[in-house]
Amino acid sequence: MQQIFPGEVFANTADFDHGIRQLLPRYDEMLEVITRCLSSTTRRILELGCGTGELTLKIFQRFPDAEIISLDYSPRMLQCAGNKITSAGYQQRWTGIQADFGEWANNPENLAIGSGFDACVSSLAIHHLDDPMKLKLFQRISASLSQGGYFGNADPTLPESSVLAEVYQSAREEWAAQQGTNLGAVRAKLGSSSQQGYSSQDQLATLDTQLQMLVKSGFKTVAVPWKYYDLAVFSAWT
Ligand SMILES: C[S@@+](CC[C@H](N)C(=O)[O-])C[C@H]1O[C@@H](n2cnc3c(N)ncnc32)[C@H](O)[C@@H]1O
Repeated sequence: MQQIFPGEVFANTADFDHGIRQLLPRYDEMLEVITRCLSSTTRRILELGCGTGELTLKIFQRFPDAEIISLDYSPRMLQCAGNKITSAGYQQRWTGIQADFGEWANNPENLAIGSGFDACVSSLAIHHLDDPMKLKLFQRISASLSQGGYFGNADPTLPESSVLAEVYQSAREEWAAQQGTNLGAVRAKLGSSSQQGYSSQDQLATLDTQLQMLVKSGFKTVAVPWKYYDLAVFSAWT
């Protein structure tokens, strides 16, 4: 199996945009919830783990005047995002930076991206950090937002019981069938990953654990605007 970075998911980057929509139920709806929670005055946005730029593009479509800085440690994913953002005409408003967001959490002085962001967004990336690093990252995000700033994250969560784990698994199987495929066929296209920087293959935490981390990180309002089986969008405001 081809070696990839944790979070790249597919052995071939070109398979990501189609494959992720077969693997995960309601992927587009999930990302759209993040963009809908951005206030109309949002301009400076930090994105963590942009991948192929699907969330980035959804934000630009809703906020064409936004300025987005996207971090991703994978040169292949960043290249793909950059190509799509350029084709869509938003390249002047986008800065893609090859960097590990765990490193940013630990040593922000090594990455000159500034602070005072109106929003920080992320999808399907932070669950690759272990729990102590998730907390550190949430604290860094909270400190990097302006007053009233928004943090929106979409991620899979750890099932609270074995019964729920089975329910979530069958929901994904049904979804794949509705897309005219099955999980085995989609998974045949996955790559294999080991530790890369601060990330490893899925290091899931329950939704409740992560909401508590957000409160501990100093966010004033914490909410879950969307949940579908194990997938959740959790949001927080400073
Ligand atoms: C599953 S993809 C999701 C991409 C995109 N946000 C989306 O929803 O389609 C996860 C991305 O996070 C990146 N990633 C994972 N851990 C990272 C880390 N520690 N620092 C920077 N990028 C990371 C991966 O390279 C990958 O591009």
